[in-house]
Amino acid sequence: MQVADRRLLLIGPDDQCRSLARTLRLLCRVETRALGAPAAQPLGRPNAIVTSGVRLRDKTGIEAAQTALRPFLSQSIPVLCLLDQPSAREAVQARMMGASVVLSAGAPTVMIAAHVREMLRLPAHQRRAGDQAEIRERVQDVGFVLADLMNAASTGMRVDDGIAAGAASLLTEALRNDGIGSWLRTVAMIHDPTYRHCLLMAGIMSAFVLQLGFNAGDCDRMTRAAILHDIGKALVPLEIINKTDRLSDEEMAVVRSHATGGHELLVAQGGHHPAILDVVRHHHEYLDGSGYPDRLRGEQITDAVRIATICDVFAALIEKRSYKPSLPARDAFVLMEQMGPKLDQDLLRAFKRAFVPTPAAV
Ligand SMILES: [Fe+2]
Ligand SMILES: [Fe+2]
Repeated sequence: MQVADRRLLLIGPDDQCRSLARTLRLLCRVETRALGAPAAQPLGRPNAIVTSGVRLRDKTGIEAAQTALRPFLSQSIPVLCLLDQPSAREAVQARMMGASVVLSAGAPTVMIAAHVREMLRLPAHQRRAGDQAEIRERVQDVGFVLADLMNAASTGMRVDDGIAAGAASLLTEALRNDGIGSWLRTVAMIHDPTYRHCLLMAGIMSAFVLQLGFNAGDCDRMTRAAILHDIGKALVPLEIINKTDRLSDEEMAVVRSHATGGHELLVAQGGHHPAILDVVRHHHEYLDGSGYPDRLRGEQITDAVRIATICDVFAALIEKRSYKPSLPARDAFVLMEQMGPKLDQDLLRAFKRAFVPTPAAV
């Protein structure tokens, strides 16, 4: 058994649980239970419990939390309690109820996840050698930072470029340690389609610009741009993003609005590099003018965007989606070559040299 096979029970109000559960599913299986729901045992014993949004300031809140945790108290299950605005008194109350860790709900996801990972971690003698745990953890860590950025975008908080830079350096380190092949294989196992796509695209773009000979500063900027390229999808309702049936024309228009939505969000917040803004807005533009949102063509499209578009199309083709299987890299290239005047053919040839020699990687 690996951490990914272990089970986490998340208890709290629906709205808080939904977003946190989505993020923690990068780590393991997650079941949620609304606070105050009947205290029936979930299927099987969880390996850890997280409570989020419980109010420990008044008797009603304390009783609700106690009722939710009571079935598990005798089972030595570790409990992490996330408090909205933790006071010392609430922290003590949480400990008295069995919480082994108490954190602010506003803590960075990567910090919350580190505690959850520790609670779920198997004893050393039970771990399997060569189970790819390290690369999985590196992928998850970048995913947690991405989740913080997406959550910030969807809740009107600042999409902090420093946080994106942190994700970029984690990603670069993972590629240096494990290679792009390991990165792509590991990311392909992520269940959430948006996180999976952004992490695939970012790994591909980071590896490509390094291969193109970009200097360290430009590599870092392009990796940040890749991590943020679909930040506008945080503004699209999850029911549409995760819909498995064919999208209606109206739904497709909403999905397509992620390019302008992400761009406008970052412009309004200020402080983001023009190249990053350019990639966020224009990564669906094609050289023949058939893309969106601004129907740019030819020389109107910068090199940064041309690179991003190739990486984005390739990521989409090699990804498994609900409506299509993943394509092997060679087949993806055949389709990209058939796109002809839409993509920069010189860059496409360089991309092919960088990625086709390692077909086993994808
Ligand atoms: Fe996009
Ligand atoms: Fe994309």
